[in-house]
Amino acid sequence: MPIINLSEEQKMVRNTSREFTENEIKPVAAINDREHKFPKEIIDKLGKLGFMGMNVPEQYGGSGLDYLSYILALEEICKGCASTGAIMSVNNSLVSAPLKTFGNENQKSSFLKDLASGNKLGCFMLSEPEAGSDAASMKTTATLDGDNYILNGTKSWITNGAEADLAIVFASTDRSLKHKGVSAFIVDMKTPGVNIGKLEDKLGIRATSTAQVFFEDCKVPAQNLLGSEGEGFKIALYTLDGGRIGIAAQAVGIAQAALEESVRYAKERRAFGKTISDFQGLQFMIADMATRVEASRLLVWQAAVMKDRDERYSKQSAMAKLFAAETAMWVTTKAIQIHGGYGYTTDYPVERYFRDAKITEIYEGTSEIQRIVIARETLKEIE
Ligand code: CAA
Repeated sequence: MPIINLSEEQKMVRNTSREFTENEIKPVAAINDREHKFPKEIIDKLGKLGFMGMNVPEQYGGSGLDYLSYILALEEICKGCASTGAIMSVNNSLVSAPLKTFGNENQKSSFLKDLASGNKLGCFMLSEPEAGSDAASMKTTATLDGDNYILNGTKSWITNGAEADLAIVFASTDRSLKHKGVSAFIVDMKTPGVNIGKLEDKLGIRATSTAQVFFEDCKVPAQNLLGSEGEGFKIALYTLDGGRIGIAAQAVGIAQAALEESVRYAKERRAFGKTISDFQGLQFMIADMATRVEASRLLVWQAAVMKDRDERYSKQSAMAKLFAAETAMWVTTKAIQIHGGYGYTTDYPVERYFRDAKITEIYEGTSEIQRIVIARETLKEIE
């Protein structure tokens, strides 16, 4: 573990998450993946543990912990099941966080309490069929009509879309203004005019739902506007800065799990009269895997600590996500190689880690988007 002095509270959060992962998550992770089963009971238990609104103040139903604690928990949970971690991270960093930061008192007491305490589940609706990386080109519109906004459009790739009770939805209140015309809304998923479309059949994180959602003349009370009209794009990018540290922690969790499985296997598997861990070729692989995982973790912790200190951290969050996601892909590929043919089967968990790792290079901003963010900041910083 990197040498950063964790507080007693942070250590306790990490230990609790580790125990929970061992006892509750690991035994069912492979089955849920195979059966595409949303881990409802586990999510309910995480809610009771206070893990669904970790950074939300206690007065709004959360645990009032710092971001590093959340990141420590997420890494441990994702070591057992990246799907469970994805569901938890959407609720914490993509839904509770913008409500906490941009919501007014009324919105916080009406919506945040239920989300942060785990009574309700949230989802974040930014992407569209033709607006992924270029989020500002969204076509979903919100038109003010008396005391309501009327939402029309299609959102895609929505994690938790099928199970969520509540959504943060981004829609354009003035398309001529491009990103400056984007606004954010809090939408009850039971509102007439919200319709769930097809669920994606995915390569990895198969225990999560990823849905298309249609808005057809959906009437949202004007008081559910989050922030002000036109502030939506900034709310989205601010939110994603935090979310990306979470995805980076997810990637570290997956990579750490793959490393541990590889070491255990290498110490048992024999070839040419010795265990394969005795071969230097394999030891070099383990050394590179361990080094990359540790470097990723340090980047993730750095971004989390900067967020906790209220420093600007967009670049560090993008670096953490980029490096940790590529590490997860690299380490899980090596893990399969170390396991040989067995690694290519569902008898061992490394094939699941490999499939789950891939999404960390795609959602909450692809690796290419992270490079754009890092390059822009670096070009600004150095004269
Ligand atoms: N925080 C707050 N505001 C920011 C910001 C940040 N980190 N970065 C930029 N902004 C502001 C800028 O100041 C600018 O505002 P003004 O015009 O008022 O000055 C505005 O946002 C637009 O900024 P840019 O000109 O930089 O915007 P751009 O269009 O050139 O590019 C981008 C921005 C980095 C490419 C951005 O669009 C981006 O991050 N795209 C990727 C979107 C993404 O991550 N999608 C993931 C979907 S969510 C998901 O995966 C859901 C799930 O369920 C898991």
